[in-house]
Amino acid sequence: MILPITQYGDPVLRKVCTPITPEYPELKKLIDDMFETMYNASGVGLAAPQVGLTIRMFVVDAEPMDEENLKGFKKVFINAQIIEEKGNKWAYNEGCLSIPGIREDVNRKEEITIEYVDENFEPHKEVYNGKLARVIQHEYDHIEGKLFVDYLSGLKREMLKGRLSDITKGRADVDYKIRLPRR
Ligand code: NI
Repeated sequence: MILPITQYGDPVLRKVCTPITPEYPELKKLIDDMFETMYNASGVGLAAPQVGLTIRMFVVDAEPMDEENLKGFKKVFINAQIIEEKGNKWAYNEGCLSIPGIREDVNRKEEITIEYVDENFEPHKEVYNGKLARVIQHEYDHIEGKLFVDYLSGLKREMLKGRLSDITKGRADVDYKIRLPRR
């Protein structure tokens, strides 16, 4: 089932999310729905707050990034904690399904170490770098209540103010189902 994607200005995108247990109701269905919602919107990652839930979960499928080493990288990250970020900061043009139509360069460190459990609650500790780290850092931010526009300079944010306000009001051009902030 395709779920509506929450949009910039929705308070749910600003919540620090909480861990879940294997007893979380209908978890398998939620994971399937999140992948379906992400594919439908042509995204490479989707976090729970983007479907209105304040739980520590996000899904990633890097296949559309069209790079050999990213083929078949499809994962569910539950209760994730980034325990280390290192390396030089590099700029990458980020976008977000909750902030449609806006893409900006964001600087982040190149390598992360992350601990999480998968959909079977098996624990993992993995190191990622480059674009894969980037996607995970972006999604991880969502479960910490952060958005990529938070990294932009004050001047840049000021310039985007009108467009961000349009998104909040549902005036952005999107071709997937959205949920506007309650007013
Ligand atoms: Ni996003």
